[in-house]
Amino acid sequence: MIKNLNIVILAAGKGTRMYSKMPKVLHKLGGKPLLWHVLQTAKSLQPGKIHVIYGEGGDLVRKYFEKDDINWVEQTKRLGTGHAVMQALPHLEHASQVLILYGDVPLISLTTLEQLIKNMPEDGLGLLSAKFSDPTGFGRIVRDKSANITAIVEHKDATLVEQKISEINTGILVTTSKILRNYLPQLHQSNAQGEYYLTDIIAMLHADGVPINCLLASDPEEVVGINDQKQLANLERKYQRALADNFMAKGLILPDPDRFDVRGELTVGSNVMIDVNVVIEGEVTLGSDTTIGPNNFLKNVQIGENVTVKANCVIENAVISDDCIVGPFARIRPNTFLDQGAHVGNFAEVKNSKIGKNSKTHHVSYLGDTIIGSDVNIGAGTITCNYNGVDKYQTVIEDGAFVGSNTSLVAPVTIGKSAVIGAGSVITQDAPQDKLTVARAKQATIDGWQRKKKKKK
Ligand code: UD1
Ligand code: MG
Repeated sequence: MIKNLNIVILAAGKGTRMYSKMPKVLHKLGGKPLLWHVLQTAKSLQPGKIHVIYGEGGDLVRKYFEKDDINWVEQTKRLGTGHAVMQALPHLEHASQVLILYGDVPLISLTTLEQLIKNMPEDGLGLLSAKFSDPTGFGRIVRDKSANITAIVEHKDATLVEQKISEINTGILVTTSKILRNYLPQLHQSNAQGEYYLTDIIAMLHADGVPINCLLASDPEEVVGINDQKQLANLERKYQRALADNFMAKGLILPDPDRFDVRGELTVGSNVMIDVNVVIEGEVTLGSDTTIGPNNFLKNVQIGENVTVKANCVIENAVISDDCIVGPFARIRPNTFLDQGAHVGNFAEVKNSKIGKNSKTHHVSYLGDTIIGSDVNIGAGTITCNYNGVDKYQTVIEDGAFVGSNTSLVAPVTIGKSAVIGAGSVITQDAPQDKLTVARAKQATIDGWQRKKKKKK
């Protein structure tokens, strides 16, 4: 790959129009901060160094990316894009090629950047431009009669004629550390915004006969910057749609690809269907022939093959093996393992538990800190009483046991193999295998009992 490439990511902007305490580059697209997307692409170019220019709220940004190999450069005063790059000058590797990216332009593609770098004239500068139907607010690319680039003029400094130019500066450019060292110190603040404009170096280079190339972005979407919540939401939809299209191209069945939300990493097998309003977070794997019904939330879940997750379930940090059926309205909490063919149905909650092969809890139950063997049936309304207000205890239900409806299992307790628990029991001691255990008051009918009657007034 390219040798000695240094990447400078400008991320010191305050993001005033986001109306948020959080720095702009930490706002999320597809569940990951804007800056994360830029860093991923930057890393793919295998640069020698990545420098991130940060400003207000920068501590939060640094903390989020503390594991990344980044040279953090503080810009204490936000005096413009030229000033921002100036802060990086002392950190640039000698005789390096320097690519400037924006932390709030998250979808810039690797292909475009590779092309930009490839087209950069030796000892010159490569610019990335785009054509927008409404170029308001952007710097305009000014060309002479032979189409040579002579300058970039900012919207606020542009004449009426210049404002009609539809080719805009995306802000992304590549040049050499030498050029930046020579020209940045010559920038001044005499312009409409009183800032050091990085874009002013273009006119200087042109005057000195330094070659400038310009690449027109083939897809204007990838150079869109985020300034407010509406732009972020619009880009989110476009991002999700592009993801959905990619998945569908590989066979994922999506009844409505416009209602697809992956905020993490999704891996799918073949013949998988994801219905509408499913939110996927963290790392989620769906095995072949699995169906996810409408309105489900899946976070860090590994789901096997031929699984059906019916509507309205919340599943987090769990493993669901092949052939399981979950939901509707099931809540599977962290550290839960469903073995092959298990069913967790209507209004059942499971936490920190293992449910064995073909075991079933179909209706209204709570299983916490429980180990369940295979072929166990948990009756409706069964509750494991795993918490005494201070400590948590385990319940063990062995293979083939049948727990009658409305049973309370007061942990620690073990239900033996093939044991049967009578409905309505409060089980406080271990129940032996193969036997019926009932723990409730006996039903009695009281002779001679009389119902009270209201006295007539
Ligand atoms: C800039 C360009 C403009 C281009 C537009 C594309 C200049 C002078 N103008 O304008 O030609 O069309 O981007 O979106 O370069 N930043 C810092 N420190 C600063 C100032 C900015 O880190 O002191 C960062 C911001 O966080 C942002 C980027 O640089 O990521 C661009 O800054 P912004 O203020 O949005 O520049 P524009 O005025 O939009
Ligand atoms: Mg901007």
